[in-house]
Amino acid sequence: MDEVNVGIVGLGNVGSGTVTILAENAEQIAQKLGFSLRVKIVSSLDADSMKLPEALGPVARTLDWRQVVTNPQVDIVVELIGGTTVAREILETAIDNQKSVVTANKELMALCGPDIWDRAIRAGVNVAMEASVAGGIPIHAVLREGISGDRVEALYGILNGTSNFILTEMERRGDSLEIVLAEAQRLGYAEANPSADIDGFDARSKLVLLSALSFGERIIPSDIYTEGIRRISPADFQYAQRLGHTIRLIAAARQTADGLILSVRPSLIPLSTILASVRGSYNAVWVKGHYGEDTFYYGRGAGSRPTGVAVVSDLMRVAREIRYGSPDRVSPFAHERLGEYKPIPVTRQKRAYYLRFRVTDRPGIIATLAGILAQKHISLDAVLQLPCENKHDLPFVITVEPSPEEAIREAIEQMSGLDFLVEPPLALPMEAGL
Ligand SMILES: NC(=O)c1ccc[n+]([C@@H]2O[C@H](COP(=O)([O-])OP(=O)(O)OC[C@H]3O[C@@H](n4cnc5c(N)ncnc54)[C@H](OP(=O)(O)O)[C@@H]3O)[C@@H](O)[C@H]2O)c1
Repeated sequence: MDEVNVGIVGLGNVGSGTVTILAENAEQIAQKLGFSLRVKIVSSLDADSMKLPEALGPVARTLDWRQVVTNPQVDIVVELIGGTTVAREILETAIDNQKSVVTANKELMALCGPDIWDRAIRAGVNVAMEASVAGGIPIHAVLREGISGDRVEALYGILNGTSNFILTEMERRGDSLEIVLAEAQRLGYAEANPSADIDGFDARSKLVLLSALSFGERIIPSDIYTEGIRRISPADFQYAQRLGHTIRLIAAARQTADGLILSVRPSLIPLSTILASVRGSYNAVWVKGHYGEDTFYYGRGAGSRPTGVAVVSDLMRVAREIRYGSPDRVSPFAHERLGEYKPIPVTRQKRAYYLRFRVTDRPGIIATLAGILAQKHISLDAVLQLPCENKHDLPFVITVEPSPEEAIREAIEQMSGLDFLVEPPLALPMEAGL
């Protein structure tokens, strides 16, 4: 049977993993498909000097991505450059030229995925994006097919490998975020500008895509409450440990009677939960279904080869469709419901909270803080103070019974003006249900 021809734009981390797998694993791929995938043309800014695996055979190279997306011999275009401007142009031009597209671009798909999807449907081609969330974990396939018969009630994920590496190293070694981040940057695990990772925006893009698939809603990224890990200190891990918990950056989507509550934020999770054992740069997604109950997915969240597998598997799915004419167009964006979604603010959720204070020690501090909590009808659960020499920067923790987040925020706001505080209090939800 005729080969299906592929054009790839972007030969960086993911692009090089993709071409390596397509070359080294070509025989297995052809056996599974009944035909071969053939890389016809590649484009990157250093395409001329780029070394390609010999087993790919002759491959045209170009610095101009337009030559890929308009090439009459190319059936599927793979976009692996990242960003939201040129990448969008690549996908749209490819679709307008009747090519199906495969992308790993979470940022772009979170921003305008439904529009790209609609354009592809009108053109009669497909969009595949498995690699865009949680690298090597086939979570798109799970939500689109594997458990599509269930009704998802909640989804919790550790979706950013860099943040998870930093948090779990802080937990293991007791070092500060600055020290671990600098090391992660030296090792190439973190970008020179780490904001997208440690401020939660990368995880937010991924949560947009997973929530769209899980709940059939169009999610607007800015509707998701997002808080990064910058304020977490080694002392927080010590206190969390005392409470039988640890801290992870949790991306959460929960269906409530009133609507969806979405957040990306550092949270205390019980040490006994399976998510607490997700360490280093690994990712995990925990889905709670109404009928099938809990399922859990774990694997490499990024990296050249794990992400390359996701891209190649997407290529195989789309190529099968092209050859056997079996359209597999389950909308990843539930586009028919665009505009119906009303986000529920995270302030409506009720949780137990961990409140961490740094104070200049003096008598009456606990009484003052407890008084403010009482005014907001928040009940104290425990007060913890580990030994500390420095009376001018003394950390301690108050945990409170499940309370509305709105009341917690009002209390924190009121406390922030107190002159004995070294910095505003840190409030983290305690996710007991995980
Ligand atoms: N890295 C991961 O583990 C991972 C995991 C999941 C998803 N992703 C997503 O995958 C995508 C690619 O990430 P990456 O880490 O592979 O990025 P990367 O290493 O920076 O590679 C980007 C590639 O695109 C090329 N490029 C940039 N602008 C171009 C243009 N105008 N025309 C042609 N080529 C162009 C670059 O060429 P030069 O090298 O010559 O500049 C480079 O080859 C992103 O959307 C990212 O979010 C990455």
